[in-house]
Amino acid sequence: MEHLGVFITGTGTGVGKTLVTAYLAALFRRAGIDAVPYKPIQSGSIRRGEELVAEDVAFYRDVARLPYDQGDLCTYCLEAAVSPHLAAQQAGQTIEPQRIAEQYRRLKAKHQLVLVEGAGGLAVPLAAKPSFVYMTMHLIHLLQVPIILVTQPGLGTINHTLLTVSYARTHHIPVAGLIVNGMPAKPTCMETDNVKMIEKLTQVPVLGILPKFEQPLIPSVKQAVLHAAEPRTDAEKILRRLKEMGEQS
Ligand SMILES: Nc1ncnc2c1ncn2[C@@H]1O[C@H](COP(=O)(O)OP(=O)(O)OP(=O)(O)O)[C@@H](O)[C@H]1O
Ligand SMILES: [Mg+2]
Repeated sequence: MEHLGVFITGTGTGVGKTLVTAYLAALFRRAGIDAVPYKPIQSGSIRRGEELVAEDVAFYRDVARLPYDQGDLCTYCLEAAVSPHLAAQQAGQTIEPQRIAEQYRRLKAKHQLVLVEGAGGLAVPLAAKPSFVYMTMHLIHLLQVPIILVTQPGLGTINHTLLTVSYARTHHIPVAGLIVNGMPAKPTCMETDNVKMIEKLTQVPVLGILPKFEQPLIPSVKQAVLHAAEPRTDAEKILRRLKEMGEQS
């Protein structure tokens, strides 16, 4: 069995990477495909006494049953809600990409698919040295994974999506697909057109469209996974695409 990985990035911070990662992990698992989410760097973690809680990992674990503790699914859990390079600096740490690569390899050896969620968008610094800034794209090269780009249907998305795909291509990062997150139940003409335009202009397939979920969010997402009409087909479509990307690179 081939073991695969993908890096889930977004057109910006807060576009729904965690929601999409948790949804996909749960959908794959429902379809009998052993997927696991991994958040190498969480900035803006919540302090509870001595402990720092990585909220994204807590969300994954609320949506999908996972056989791991936070420490296995988050390598750098940082308190400051700023860019990872600065959050690490403020915590007196340096992000070491090799540690992330090692944990990624451990998870990949055990699971069919690892969904690695980035911090913020794609052009994000992870470690700043005087003469060199280690960027998210360097980590993606190290892990040798394609990306899935989470985007939104609203105003501004054409610009954000095109710029991110263009940046990825400039840096030789394969883009497996787009996932549109937060589609309203009754999309406007602009929202419907935006989805068509981002696919047409980027020439990257839209692999999924997730709705705007009702509050409370976790039960809504779990219900959506449970009632997904074609979990096996949808999961296999994404897996096939990831395999094709691996063969091309
Ligand atoms: N489809 C959706 N329906 C309803 N609410 C959503 C949806 N997607 C995301 N949200 C809400 O938007 C907020 C940001 O989503 P999320 O945490 O998934 O973004 P993110 O891209 O992972 O952010 P970060 O860059 O901080 O990791 C959250 O409060 C989440 O609950
Ligand atoms: Mg997140």
